[in-house]
Amino acid sequence: MNTRTTRTLAAALSLTAALVISGCSSSPSSSAGEDSTAKAGAGAPAEESAKPKMTVTGAYMPEPVNDKMAGAFMVIKNDSKTADKLLAVTSPLSDDLQVHETKDQKMQQVQSMDVPAGGALNLERGGSHIMFMGLKNKPNVGDKVTIELRFEKADPVKVELDVKERTYNAQSSTAH
Ligand code: CU
Repeated sequence: MNTRTTRTLAAALSLTAALVISGCSSSPSSSAGEDSTAKAGAGAPAEESAKPKMTVTGAYMPEPVNDKMAGAFMVIKNDSKTADKLLAVTSPLSDDLQVHETKDQKMQQVQSMDVPAGGALNLERGGSHIMFMGLKNKPNVGDKVTIELRFEKADPVKVELDVKERTYNAQSSTAH
């Protein structure tokens, strides 16, 4: 609700600014700068071409109980100024990987997950995670599992998951 109010306020403010600027038509030479600002909304190629690059840290998979499902956790960092989305995940270990979020302690599949500009997507226990639905074989502690993350804008990123003991929980340095 607050966001909406802020947006409306911002829109109202920029409208006011535009009116003030157009009212100053008596001094055309000094209004050149304002003109370019007003047109910025019509396509900003500079920002479009700034392809984000993702850095993945702390990627692991708790040893699965059986070959039916497994979770994967990591921090996906986006140091660029362009927001991106995690769209899909693939792995040789499974033909069906999903991105899950946890709401009211129940997990559900989502079509994409935001990786904010200059921020990170935290995939952690009890929260959002990647889920393997069906495993071709059951990995054991010490194994490595390769996955590939696909993004809307950034190039795909290959990640090696360390298979850890079932109770392992990475310390999230960025959260809280
Ligand atoms: Cu899940």
